[in-house]
Amino acid sequence: MKDPAAGDPLLAIDGLRIAAREGEIVRAADLAVGRREVVGLFGESGCGKTTLGLGVVGLLDPALRVTQGEIRIAGRVTVSPSLDETSALRGVQIGFIPQDPFSSFNPLRRVGPQIGRVLRLHHGASRRATETKALELLSALGVTDPRGVAASFPHELSGGLLQRAVIAATLIGEPELLIADEPTTALDVVVQNQVLLAFLRLVRELGTALLIITHDLGVLAETADRLAAMYAGSIVEFGPVSSVLGKPRHPYVGALLGSMVRPSRKQQQLSVIDGQPPSLPGYLEPCAFAPRCSRAQPRCYSEEPTYKWPASSGAACHFPLGSFPEDRASRVTQ
Ligand SMILES: Nc1ncnc2c1ncn2[C@@H]1O[C@H](COP(=O)(O)OP(=O)(O)OP(=O)(O)O)[C@@H](O)[C@H]1O
Ligand code: SF4
Ligand SMILES: [Mg+2]
Repeated sequence: MKDPAAGDPLLAIDGLRIAAREGEIVRAADLAVGRREVVGLFGESGCGKTTLGLGVVGLLDPALRVTQGEIRIAGRVTVSPSLDETSALRGVQIGFIPQDPFSSFNPLRRVGPQIGRVLRLHHGASRRATETKALELLSALGVTDPRGVAASFPHELSGGLLQRAVIAATLIGEPELLIADEPTTALDVVVQNQVLLAFLRLVRELGTALLIITHDLGVLAETADRLAAMYAGSIVEFGPVSSVLGKPRHPYVGALLGSMVRPSRKQQQLSVIDGQPPSLPGYLEPCAFAPRCSRAQPRCYSEEPTYKWPASSGAACHFPLGSFPEDRASRVTQ
């Protein structure tokens, strides 16, 4: 199958490693986001998703540094161990939506002008044009009183309204690429889904490429083009939604999906993944999943499994699901 982002992806993350003084946090991250493509990034808490996202937009904690690999945007190297060219692109070509909307706005200024900031600063738009665009975006995100929201101070708004305002502020400059780090987890469960769906609809309408970090695999299954699974700092599987969710290759992804409640499954059929994910930075086996993997062999403890995007298997595993004779037998009897 032809890879949708093959050739000239908008975002290419190539063998990226990010380390703190105590050790590595992101190790061997490989993925790509094509133009207008939505890629979902998921994995257990603490596996390095936020660190990877911040690395792409050049907002890493000063205690962290890129030690290997590179990030390219539209074919141009923007981040490598010796280079960070993201500051000129942030807000214009690339945007970032953080988890916590309350940290994004100046508490002393009204929300409307803050939404329009990028348009006025970087695109020289007039005050009237900026205001019109801000109100349009808020409406498109399901805000019923956009004028009221624009005239408010951040503390006067609910988390759901404020996060919609943050999303509008990020989209107003029409960046080609957006990184969204769990953009709705700080919100009330009831509004999470509404905001996420409105956001994804708008991203599609605008044709923005999106790398979205979320635990909501249900929404990703409906809306993303491709998925990347992360475990202990590595992207362990990357591929189209239908193959990652429908026919996972990496044992971690298979186990994670097996542990999730699905309406079509009975409670007793669900499995859990034994053990805890390793904490980062910290000691890792060559395959970090080996201590929890029912398929582990001696090779998994002596040789790091890697895959290079774009790859045929799409999984960093020596013995991916489907490769043992008994896998085929169990699929036949299912
Ligand atoms: N500046 C830092 N110095 C040392 N360790 C750090 C630093 N920043 C992050 N870490 C550690 O890196 C690991 C990965 O953190 P990160 O926030 O990227 O994970 P995550 O996958 O986004 O988790 P979550 O799903 O909980 O948001 C964590 O164990 C975290 O404590
Ligand atoms: S490389 Fe080995 S231990 Fe790691 S996931 Fe694959 S089978 Fe399991
Ligand atoms: Mg995070």
